[in-house]
Amino acid sequence: MSLAHSDAPEAPTTAPARAGTPATGVSDGPAAPGPGVPHVVGRVDDVPPGEGRAFVAGGVQVAVFRLRDGSLHATQAACPHAGGPLADGQTDADVLVCPLHLFAYRWSDGVSTSGAAPVRRYPVHEDAGRLVVTV
Ligand code: FES
Repeated sequence: MSLAHSDAPEAPTTAPARAGTPATGVSDGPAAPGPGVPHVVGRVDDVPPGEGRAFVAGGVQVAVFRLRDGSLHATQAACPHAGGPLADGQTDADVLVCPLHLFAYRWSDGVSTSGAAPVRRYPVHEDAGRLVVTV
Protein backbone atom coordinates (compact mmCIF):
# COMPACT_ATOMS: atom_id res chain seq x y z
CA MET A 1 0.00 0.00 0.00
CA SER A 2 1.19 3.47 -0.77
CA LEU A 3 1.24 5.89 2.12
CA ALA A 4 1.36 8.91 -0.17
CA HIS A 5 -1.10 11.76 0.14
CA SER A 6 -4.18 11.76 -2.08
CA ASP A 7 -7.32 13.82 -2.21
CA ALA A 8 -9.53 10.76 -2.69
CA PRO A 9 -11.86 10.64 0.35
CA GLU A 10 -12.95 7.40 1.94
CA ALA A 11 -15.84 6.74 4.27
CA PRO A 12 -14.99 6.61 8.00
CA THR A 13 -15.65 3.34 9.84
CA THR A 14 -14.67 4.25 13.38
CA ALA A 15 -16.44 2.33 16.13
CA PRO A 16 -17.77 4.38 19.03
CA ALA A 17 -15.16 5.38 21.54
CA ARG A 18 -15.28 3.77 24.96
CA ALA A 19 -14.79 5.60 28.19
CA GLY A 20 -11.63 4.95 30.17
CA THR A 21 -11.24 4.83 33.90
CA PRO A 22 -8.50 6.40 35.99
CA ALA A 23 -5.55 4.07 36.38
CA THR A 24 -5.01 4.32 40.08
CA GLY A 25 -1.72 2.76 41.06
CA VAL A 26 -0.48 2.59 37.49
CA SER A 27 1.50 5.80 37.26
CA ASP A 28 4.98 4.38 37.95
CA GLY A 29 5.38 1.93 35.04
CA PRO A 30 8.60 2.09 33.03
CA ALA A 31 6.91 3.49 29.93
CA ALA A 32 4.90 5.94 31.95
CA PRO A 33 5.50 9.33 30.69
CA GLY A 34 5.72 12.85 31.97
CA PRO A 35 3.00 15.14 33.11
CA GLY A 36 -0.59 14.08 32.86
CA VAL A 37 -2.92 11.56 34.43
CA PRO A 38 -2.80 7.90 33.36
CA HIS A 39 -6.12 6.26 32.47
CA VAL A 40 -6.84 2.62 31.77
CA VAL A 41 -8.87 2.64 28.56
CA GLY A 42 -9.10 -1.09 27.94
CA ARG A 43 -6.94 -4.14 27.29
CA VAL A 44 -4.02 -4.20 24.91
CA ASP A 45 -5.76 -7.11 23.18
CA ASP A 46 -8.63 -4.74 22.35
CA VAL A 47 -6.36 -3.31 19.64
CA PRO A 48 -5.41 -5.91 17.00
CA PRO A 49 -1.78 -5.79 15.81
CA GLY A 50 -1.39 -3.32 12.97
CA GLU A 51 -4.61 -1.48 13.77
CA GLY A 52 -6.00 1.40 15.81
CA ARG A 53 -9.03 1.85 18.03
CA ALA A 54 -10.77 4.90 19.47
CA PHE A 55 -11.04 5.35 23.24
CA VAL A 56 -11.80 8.08 25.73
CA ALA A 57 -9.12 8.75 28.34
CA GLY A 58 -10.13 11.16 31.07
CA GLY A 59 -12.70 12.79 28.81
CA VAL A 60 -10.23 13.13 25.90
CA GLN A 61 -10.92 11.23 22.69
CA VAL A 62 -7.79 9.37 21.64
CA ALA A 63 -6.77 6.90 18.96
CA VAL A 64 -4.54 4.07 20.16
CA PHE A 65 -2.46 2.00 17.76
CA ARG A 66 -0.68 -1.29 18.29
CA LEU A 67 1.92 -1.71 15.60
CA ARG A 68 2.97 -5.11 14.31
CA ASP A 69 6.21 -4.86 16.27
CA GLY A 70 4.11 -4.61 19.44
CA SER A 71 4.79 -0.93 20.07
CA LEU A 72 1.93 1.29 21.17
CA HIS A 73 1.14 4.83 20.03
CA ALA A 74 -1.68 7.22 20.91
CA THR A 75 -2.81 10.36 19.15
CA GLN A 76 -5.73 12.71 19.24
CA ALA A 77 -8.75 10.93 17.76
CA ALA A 78 -9.64 13.58 15.19
CA CYS A 79 -7.28 14.31 12.33
CA PRO A 80 -5.82 17.85 12.45
CA HIS A 81 -6.65 18.32 8.76
CA ALA A 82 -10.45 18.02 8.83
CA GLY A 83 -11.41 15.82 11.77
CA GLY A 84 -11.11 12.41 10.13
CA PRO A 85 -11.15 9.29 12.34
CA LEU A 86 -7.47 8.60 12.86
CA ALA A 87 -8.20 5.28 14.62
CA ASP A 88 -9.25 3.96 11.20
CA GLY A 89 -6.01 5.08 9.60
CA GLN A 90 -3.35 2.90 8.02
CA THR A 91 -0.01 2.54 9.76
CA ASP A 92 3.48 1.30 9.27
CA ALA A 93 6.51 1.56 11.52
CA ASP A 94 7.02 5.23 10.67
CA VAL A 95 3.71 6.95 9.96
CA LEU A 96 -0.03 7.05 10.52
CA VAL A 97 -2.15 7.89 7.48
CA CYS A 98 -5.60 9.40 7.95
CA PRO A 99 -8.31 7.46 6.06
CA LEU A 100 -10.13 10.55 4.80
CA HIS A 101 -7.59 12.45 2.70
CA LEU A 102 -4.46 10.40 3.35
CA PHE A 103 -2.39 13.00 5.13
CA ALA A 104 0.45 11.25 6.97
CA TYR A 105 1.85 11.89 10.45
CA ARG A 106 5.17 10.64 11.81
CA TRP A 107 5.02 8.51 14.96
CA SER A 108 8.30 9.98 16.15
CA ASP A 109 7.11 13.55 16.56
CA GLY A 110 3.57 13.91 15.17
CA VAL A 111 4.70 16.12 12.30
CA SER A 112 2.74 15.71 9.08
CA THR A 113 4.85 14.55 6.16
CA SER A 114 2.21 15.84 3.78
CA GLY A 115 1.61 19.38 4.94
CA ALA A 116 -1.10 19.22 7.62
CA ALA A 117 -0.74 20.61 11.14
CA PRO A 118 0.99 18.18 13.51
CA VAL A 119 -1.04 15.57 15.33
CA ARG A 120 -1.06 15.57 19.12
CA ARG A 121 0.45 12.45 20.63
CA TYR A 122 -0.19 11.01 24.07
CA PRO A 123 1.97 8.70 26.15
CA VAL A 124 0.61 5.15 26.14
CA HIS A 125 1.88 1.97 27.75
CA GLU A 126 0.85 -1.51 28.80
CA ASP A 127 0.48 -2.43 32.44
CA ALA A 128 -0.25 -6.12 33.04
CA GLY A 129 -2.27 -6.31 29.82
CA ARG A 130 -4.09 -3.07 30.49
CA LEU A 131 -3.87 -0.23 28.01
CA VAL A 132 -2.92 2.99 29.80
CA VAL A 133 -3.08 6.40 28.11
CA THR A 134 -1.83 9.52 29.88
CA VAL A 135 -3.67 12.73 29.08
S1 FES B 1 -9.33 14.64 7.67
FE1 FES B 1 -8.22 15.11 5.89
S2 FES B 1 -6.41 13.94 6.06
FE2 FES B 1 -7.47 13.55 7.90
